[in-house]
Amino acid sequence: MKALVKHRAEPGLWLMDVPEPETGPGDVLIRVLRTGICGTDLHIRSWDGWARQAVATPRVLGHEFVGEVASVGADVRDVAVGDLVSGEGHLVCGTCRNCLAGRRHVCRATVGLGVGRDGAFAEYVALPASNVWVHRTRVDLDVAAIFDPFGNAVHTALTFPVVGEDVLITGAGPIGVMATAVARHAGARNVVVTDVSGPRLDLARKAGATLTVNVAHTGIGEAQRELGLREGFDVGMEMSGRPEALRDMVANMTHGGRIALLGLPAEEFAVDWSRIVTSMITVKGIYGREMFETWYAMTVLLEGGLDLSPVITGSYSYRDFEAAFDEAATARSGKIILDWTA
Ligand SMILES: NC(=O)c1ccc[n+]([C@@H]2O[C@H](COP(=O)([O-])OP(=O)(O)OC[C@H]3O[C@@H](n4cnc5c(N)ncnc54)[C@H](O)[C@@H]3O)[C@@H](O)[C@H]2O)c1
Ligand SMILES: [Zn+2]
Ligand SMILES: [Zn+2]
Repeated sequence: MKALVKHRAEPGLWLMDVPEPETGPGDVLIRVLRTGICGTDLHIRSWDGWARQAVATPRVLGHEFVGEVASVGADVRDVAVGDLVSGEGHLVCGTCRNCLAGRRHVCRATVGLGVGRDGAFAEYVALPASNVWVHRTRVDLDVAAIFDPFGNAVHTALTFPVVGEDVLITGAGPIGVMATAVARHAGARNVVVTDVSGPRLDLARKAGATLTVNVAHTGIGEAQRELGLREGFDVGMEMSGRPEALRDMVANMTHGGRIALLGLPAEEFAVDWSRIVTSMITVKGIYGREMFETWYAMTVLLEGGLDLSPVITGSYSYRDFEAAFDEAATARSGKIILDWTA
């Protein structure tokens, strides 16, 4: 089968023929239809410091996908050949304290699809049935392909109650844009979104942002004044991984405000902890998706009319992966889809 492989420990990706994945009695073999390109895949392509320590070559990339079940192992009960499925890309150990307690999203031995094991940028991908999410209601294929990052957005946006609240989202990458749509849909009063990229802020506006702020030339304080906020934001969602964004956020929160941190900083940095302490700000890290509460929420949000179309800005055949990756690497694009049937 064709697959996009990190073939050698150097920058680049290779489209090559590899054997179909092997499956055991508890596994599902999926014919991949569409996939989404994630920042993780860009890191692995450019072979930066993180990728070098996280990925052993050769490795088939990719964790955001939708496909059709091609075959199921003898022990698989709830997934059938022909089902339309996406997959939870975090494979957990099943035996640590958190796994045993049903908190699989905080497993201490998580392995990432397309990072620690062969992934979905291929004609076929194999997953344990317990990681497979069957789409039982109609869903757009491009949207189904990005359930993984949509889940990051939903997990973060619904971590703290947002009904009637003033929300600040720093970072209008694909996840920030989806979180904007979710927060509005869930009843936030104002959703202010910051970025340093004009085109990405345009996407945030299309997704329902009340106000966008290009922090390259405007401060968040001005946005507060414009909206008539007197005491700061109630809920913050950090989705850029940038030190200055978290610092700005902390400075603009109300007393007792709550911050959900999804963005992954490249290194340690300082924040104003005394402001966090004296304002009694809650800061919570968010990783992955809750299995499978977040997946239920995603499906019902879409059924309830949530529109993710603004976040999808490009679609390519997998054969044109170089152009697709180049576009995904610009600071202008939303989600870029690879079609494995074209
Ligand atoms: N915790 C998790 O499980 C998890 C999962 C996926 C992604 N992530 C992280 O979440 C973040 C968002 O993911 P994404 O795919 O949307 O990333 P992305 O890199 O596409 O988006 C980040 C955005 O932040 C913007 N930005 C840069 N400086 C800024 C500033 N000072 N203020 C505001 N915005 C600024 C960038 O222009 C960019 O648009 C990334 O940091 C990613 O590594 C975490
Ligand atoms: Zn991803
Ligand atoms: Zn575990």
